[in-house]
Amino acid sequence: MKQRTFFIVKPDAVSRNLTGRILAELEGRGFVIQALHRATLDRQRVETFYAEHKERPFFGSLCDFMTSGPVVLGCLEGEDAVTRLRTVVGATDPNAAEPLTIRRMFAIDKGSNSVHASDSEASAARELNHFKDLLGL
Ligand code: RTP
Ligand code: MG
Repeated sequence: MKQRTFFIVKPDAVSRNLTGRILAELEGRGFVIQALHRATLDRQRVETFYAEHKERPFFGSLCDFMTSGPVVLGCLEGEDAVTRLRTVVGATDPNAAEPLTIRRMFAIDKGSNSVHASDSEASAARELNHFKDLLGL
């Protein structure tokens, strides 16, 4: 089933000039970029985006990191895009991620892990809606 999902190239990857290589990996694995935007996110947008984690001990550092510099966010389309993108991105901790996943190839550590991918169809819909102004959707 053709689906849309949401992704972010996080500040650690944008600042290391890895955006193009990451987008090329995604296109090479069959995802079609439907929308793309570069922005430095404000704290309120990030706190709402990651609201499910607000009681976790890493929430403050996560929000610091995600507002620390520009990100590139977008909408991808493809067959079973939500599940397939999570597989291509790999585990949260790059040391635990499978070979040839984006996090294994590019991420620094569990915090600076280069990419976000929606974790369910419901999350994808919510996250695309959260960024629809920037994405022009
Ligand atoms: P994401 O939402 O960014 O795609 O990452 P994820 O689903 O793989 O992981 P999630 O559990 O949703 O956590 C969101 C982000 O919070 C940071 N984190 N740090 N220090 C820690 O134990 C810890 N756990 C999570 C990571 O940067 C993770 O991507
Ligand atoms: Mg997540």
